[in-house]
Amino acid sequence: MTTQASRTVPITVAYGDGIGPEIMDATLRIITSGGADLDVDVIQIGEAVYKAGNTAGIGPEAWESLRRTKVFLKAPITTPEGGGYKSLNVTVRKAFGLFANVRPCPSYSPFIATKHPGMDVVIVRENEEDLYGGIEHRQTEDVTQCLKLISRPGTERLIRYAFEYARRYGRSKVTCFTKDNIMKITDGLFHRVFDEVAAEYPDLESEHWIVDIGAAKLADTPEAFDVVVLPNLYGDILSDVAAQIAGSVGLAGSANIGSEVAMFEAIHGSAPRRAGQNVANPSGLLLAAVQMLVHIGQGDVAERVHNAWLRTIEDGVHTYDIFDPEVSKEKVGTSQFADAVIARLGEEPKTLRAVHYPASAERISVAVKERPPAKKELVGIDVFVDSRQPVEELAKVLEANAGPLQLVMITNRGQKVYPGGIPETFCVDHWRCRFQAPDGTSPVAYDDVVALLGRLVAAGQPFIKTEGLFTFDGEPGFSLGQGQ
Ligand code: IPM
Ligand code: MG
Repeated sequence: MTTQASRTVPITVAYGDGIGPEIMDATLRIITSGGADLDVDVIQIGEAVYKAGNTAGIGPEAWESLRRTKVFLKAPITTPEGGGYKSLNVTVRKAFGLFANVRPCPSYSPFIATKHPGMDVVIVRENEEDLYGGIEHRQTEDVTQCLKLISRPGTERLIRYAFEYARRYGRSKVTCFTKDNIMKITDGLFHRVFDEVAAEYPDLESEHWIVDIGAAKLADTPEAFDVVVLPNLYGDILSDVAAQIAGSVGLAGSANIGSEVAMFEAIHGSAPRRAGQNVANPSGLLLAAVQMLVHIGQGDVAERVHNAWLRTIEDGVHTYDIFDPEVSKEKVGTSQFADAVIARLGEEPKTLRAVHYPASAERISVAVKERPPAKKELVGIDVFVDSRQPVEELAKVLEANAGPLQLVMITNRGQKVYPGGIPETFCVDHWRCRFQAPDGTSPVAYDDVVALLGRLVAAGQPFIKTEGLFTFDGEPGFSLGQGQ
């Protein structure tokens, strides 16, 4: 038996920067009036913490609170301009393994202007990997690089989550976007795992689009999509697009889900120009709080709050950002908007579809399948070098020092330029030089690689970095040169 008192759930709250304090205040007031039973621990994060010299924007007590409550309702924060400050969002997501970022983007037509009245897309964005590792280097005078990491377990748990989410919420299709015609290994893995997992959900339709045309289709005909699952950066971009074409980025909430901890936030930023004027729309944070209430087993409260919010929107009580003289009835500020939602608690929308959440739902949990490890063999090395010499000169030095290995090719920004390049190819000072065994397939000894690097240094041609060329159960785990 659960009594009312035993439902009290500890959560951590950050009021954030810019418009953060106002929209958090409104949100907490609405959900508490709606019956949310919370024990709120307020932490300080963001601008002030950054400026006090903490480059992550979050201190030890805040971590302590998050580790204790495991539920975080976070207002937007401002990352100060200038180098050295790390994104707090990304830090929290990665530190707690918040692998799935769920961003519902429905339209509220005819009450909020949109070109896509039938749209009801949920973006499920990978939240920890891809280009968000922040592993960047300047390697030569000319060239910088950012490492794109896609892992099988990271991808698998995200994609399983997307399919489980679709089932739980009665959705019929899951679409995956990647660019695996170009990134055959990284995006290729994401697509392959999608196909594998999709096969386990025959009750759900599944499809894959190349991200460029998929994004165009999403922006033009969002009604054709349901749940969309995608890697981190595409998901960042397309969730803003989806939210904006549904009505406004100001309306979308997001749930960052991990296996233990979850964080709930609006998808918009801290809008410092609007701060302190009681004008900001609290809806994005409020809808994130609704996701939080479902997550902590207070689905009945989530339902009451969400329906009251829908009714408020339907009644034309709008903040400036969505105010439209044609349909809006009353232009209100942040706190008046909150009052209007509170006044409608217990009511349901009449035209928009009312929402229903189970009073206390089990959380979606996903497990990654165990796989026997593949046999991994070193079959070569890509040595990256910094050189301003013509490629033929560079090749001479490399060949003279190859030892038992053989120089197979040199590429510049991925394009093969040796042997057999053409003079029209534009080259920078950053070369990938591939060495393999003379037969091209035999295993290569690490000692031979180390000796090769030593000889290159001695010959005045030092390296920037190396990448091992491995086969996994005989399958090459590396791309060929463009034009090879
Ligand atoms: C978002 C934001 C963040 C992101 C920024 C603030 C790091 O744009 O939540 O979409 O890129 O993920
Ligand atoms: Mg974003």
